[in-house]
Amino acid sequence: MKEKIQEIEGVLRKYGQEHLLRHFKELSDEEKENLLDQILLIDFDLITSLYKKVINHEKNENQQDLQPLKAYEWDAIDNQEKQQLYDIGIKKIKDSKAAVILLAGGQGTRLGYSGAKGTFDIGLPSHKSLFQLQCERLINISRKCGTYINWYIMTSPVNHDETVQFFDDNNYFDYSKENITFFKQGILPTIDVNGEIFLEERGKVSMAPNGNGGCFLAIKDKGILTEMKEKGIEWIFINGIDNALVRVADPYFLGFAVKTGLPSASKVVSKKSPDEKAGILCYQNKRPAIVEYSELPVELAQKTNDDGNLIYDNANIISHLLKLEVIEEFFNYEIPFHVAHKKIPYTNISGDIEYPSEPNGYKFESFIFDIFSYVVDMAVLKVRREEEFAPVKNKDGEDSPFTAKNLVLNLHRNWLINSGVDSKLLDRKIVEISPLTSYNGEDIERELIIDKLFQSGTLLI
Ligand code: UD1
Repeated sequence: MKEKIQEIEGVLRKYGQEHLLRHFKELSDEEKENLLDQILLIDFDLITSLYKKVINHEKNENQQDLQPLKAYEWDAIDNQEKQQLYDIGIKKIKDSKAAVILLAGGQGTRLGYSGAKGTFDIGLPSHKSLFQLQCERLINISRKCGTYINWYIMTSPVNHDETVQFFDDNNYFDYSKENITFFKQGILPTIDVNGEIFLEERGKVSMAPNGNGGCFLAIKDKGILTEMKEKGIEWIFINGIDNALVRVADPYFLGFAVKTGLPSASKVVSKKSPDEKAGILCYQNKRPAIVEYSELPVELAQKTNDDGNLIYDNANIISHLLKLEVIEEFFNYEIPFHVAHKKIPYTNISGDIEYPSEPNGYKFESFIFDIFSYVVDMAVLKVRREEEFAPVKNKDGEDSPFTAKNLVLNLHRNWLINSGVDSKLLDRKIVEISPLTSYNGEDIERELIIDKLFQSGTLLI
């Protein structure tokens, strides 16, 4: 261990991070080993260059030349064309040309939930978790296609074991276990305002997940990219965990992307208000891009056209499609990182943990959507918010489990009305429709439902 310590001391001196061993002598042998191993994994050059960017205020370096991007409106597509898109998408899935990546490595900090976000129950009558809702939508599509879609679930070192255990405890929600792969994204150290890496505990470096864009490096490192190629997969659906209405593996969307001939696509909804916390899909330096809500200048976020509508209106709902070759190409470029100024708990000189009340340091994240700036153009589909976006972000108020639950139940109510059920029959009734029964309002048997509606106040179909 002596040699290892000397080697590490040298590295720490070089990068001005000697304080990481400040409490070393107080640690047990096992804790010492763990700390040294953690330090050995740190990419100090990367952290140094990221800190330089922070002090040089390079955060907004790419903010020039934003232009609005015109999305295709789902509502403007006629039924015949919708059917055509559906057929194209279903065929691709049937031929095993598509896979799904679920981004589930984030932490539910705003939600005030310490567990893996996918295990969260938003309070539907069925009490299904976010993972189960997504899984059952995949089962529905898989049944329609007669084949299971390969589902790659990204976790982080913080929630990996819990996620795998949750699926195991729930028998993979009856999905085919062989078609599910869990993989961990990477982590990066957090730093203080002077560029010093924080210690979370005396013997533990403070690390945070490297952002949902960490997905690309992770699938490369874990051999998933190669596996996808070998399986002949052409298209990757990518979606987040915290949208209770996300249409995982939506065949219409895939058909839409294929038909445009472009190598990437994204769904958006109309922005609710100028200050909604949603990234905006637009052009930046003549390339498609999503500018994150934290980085969009307020005056642009509020800018309206002559009709009073927001000019930058395409809100990102993390429902993306990428051709595999776009991901491969992305590795030829430097992956950008974004800086977040955050309240980061840390261990002080005396060895006590401090919980700051104001932002005291920086976390670095890469964003999944930065890949869009490397394609010449992309297809953007504007869908109906009330059908496809029920964000679960905050504990209470806007975008909370309560609002998401109501969005899901309202949609299901509308599905029943659209399939011919008299709205009066639904008064004071709560109806939840399982994704196993219906993916987007299809296959609802009116007679059966009307019969059941007379029997019970809360109905699970
Ligand atoms: C995200 C989007 C934002 C969009 C909004 C819609 C990004 C970077 N931002 O913002 O443009 O309008 O959702 O709801 O995509 N995640 C990981 N690993 C991480 C961090 C996050 O897997 O290290 C996952 C989360 O589990 C979640 C998704 O990425 O599924 C988005 O999480 P988060 O970055 O917290 O979302 P928002 O800030 O709300």
